[in-house]
Amino acid sequence: MGDLLPMSVLMAKAYKEGYAIPAFCSWNAESTEMVLKTAAKLKAPVIVMSGPGEFPLVRPDVLAAITRHLIKKYPVPAALHLDHGDSLELVDECLAAGYTSAMLDYSTKPWDENVNALREVVKHCRPKGVTVEGEIGHVGKADTMSVESDRESTLTQPEEAVAYVEATGVDVLAISIGNAHGHYTRLPRFDFDRLAAIRKAVSVPLVLHGGSGTPAEDLRRAISLGMAKVNVATDLVTTVRNALMKQWQGAKQQWVPTTMAVATAALEEVIERWLRATGAVGKA
Ligand code: 13P
Repeated sequence: MGDLLPMSVLMAKAYKEGYAIPAFCSWNAESTEMVLKTAAKLKAPVIVMSGPGEFPLVRPDVLAAITRHLIKKYPVPAALHLDHGDSLELVDECLAAGYTSAMLDYSTKPWDENVNALREVVKHCRPKGVTVEGEIGHVGKADTMSVESDRESTLTQPEEAVAYVEATGVDVLAISIGNAHGHYTRLPRFDFDRLAAIRKAVSVPLVLHGGSGTPAEDLRRAISLGMAKVNVATDLVTTVRNALMKQWQGAKQQWVPTTMAVATAALEEVIERWLRATGAVGKA
């Protein structure tokens, strides 16, 4: 510990032991510190992730340097993951920065394009011991909150999941079973038969995108059926936004670092809730 680990190492243990690791969207030093600090407090493995939605604010090299510094201060098993990478160039930028896991999301592209691109990502990442996440089927969005995807979901077929893992060599697989990014405007209906069939057919750990708003019982069942990582973004971003709005509405003046400190502190409860809900607490 004290250094970042490949995401597949964390997920292999979780998959075997029947819990999941939350991957928290992080966009600055403060949010990263709150994730690692809370995970350390609860002795939980954790994944810190960022992607094209966060990089307009801060580039991967800066986020990686921050995370590498903080992991020494809060030594838990942790990975730094590129979420929804949209080009091979961005994957390479994250590799150079020291990310220990990368997703290239070509799930809306034709089969050949998705497979060929992910094969290439595997070629770049494997020699460096960096984990690769691919997506087959497509996880769309539940509302307009999230920056991920602007397409309808397409459910993952078990046969295509098998063929995709075989053809690309990805280490972990994101699938679509009724989950969606953003705030659920009505309760999601996960297709657990589909999930069970995919788990039976492929040997790699599975990833649940669109964690925010998932009912507790559905989450537990999805984890018991092989979802070893749960992505969480909207819950965090909404918490910070609400905390800022509350302070700023009607206020004549507010010192930005002070309001940011209050907003970041509000993240602790959300992070803790997710670490407990996924069963990650005490697994470090
Ligand atoms: P939510 O924003 O719904 O939590 O989903 C996050 C996600 O899947 C990022 O990849």
